[in-house]
Amino acid sequence: MANNRTPIMAGNWKMFKTPAETIAFFEKFLPLVERSTHCEIVICPPFVNIPAAVQAVAGTRVEIGAQNLFWEKQGAYTGEVAGPMLAAAGARWVIIGHSERRQYFGETDQTVFKKTVAALEAGLKPIVCVGETLEEREAGQTEAVLARQFDNGLAPLSPEQFSRVSVAYEPVWAIGTGRTATPELAAEAHRFLRERVRERYGEEVAAQVRILYGGSVRPDNVRGLMAQDEIDGTLVGGASLDPDSFAAIVNYL
Ligand code: PGA
Repeated sequence: MANNRTPIMAGNWKMFKTPAETIAFFEKFLPLVERSTHCEIVICPPFVNIPAAVQAVAGTRVEIGAQNLFWEKQGAYTGEVAGPMLAAAGARWVIIGHSERRQYFGETDQTVFKKTVAALEAGLKPIVCVGETLEEREAGQTEAVLARQFDNGLAPLSPEQFSRVSVAYEPVWAIGTGRTATPELAAEAHRFLRERVRERYGEEVAAQVRILYGGSVRPDNVRGLMAQDEIDGTLVGGASLDPDSFAAIVNYL
């Protein structure tokens, strides 16, 4: 069944590239996606590359996002970056609650919620990540984990707030491992999440929320994933670092 959700193809550069490498990426990448009007295109570089990236994409359809933010607007929080600063620097999107943030930097469903509210207040479009570990999947806990992450990290948002959020389903065992979820397995998790959204926010919101898949997305597996009606885009790590490979993903059609 077709839907009218515009796909989001987002690149998460993680801790890679300098400002000069950022500029070099866009010189090659932008001509390759000039006519790619079927989706929204987002690149999330490290904080320090945001100004160079914003300048590089000016006048194009490509938008820039951050990979994290702090929930306070300003203050004595050494090393943190606030939503209004990102917005002022020209970022339009922000990834929140990526599994690497949860695993290495102590982020929880509660901090995900606070960061999502802060992002929305700053006018940024949050991409909130959820997903189970291999251990959790093997123990048959996938749905329980997704339910918990949704219920605590997202469900406290008002319907108006939630309507401005996108969700990324990223099974932790598929991130950076070359082990992609099959399109069917991913779609199953997406269906579960969308049903959760429907129960909390109703039919209309559930029909419009975009749920991206992330975890070892590559040019050679993106079509199968995007062929699933439930999958509304991809969040791409490793394969977004190379302009040809990320353009091939964006142009999956
Ligand atoms: P990967 O990362 O594409 O390198 O697996 C995805 C992600 O962490 O968002």
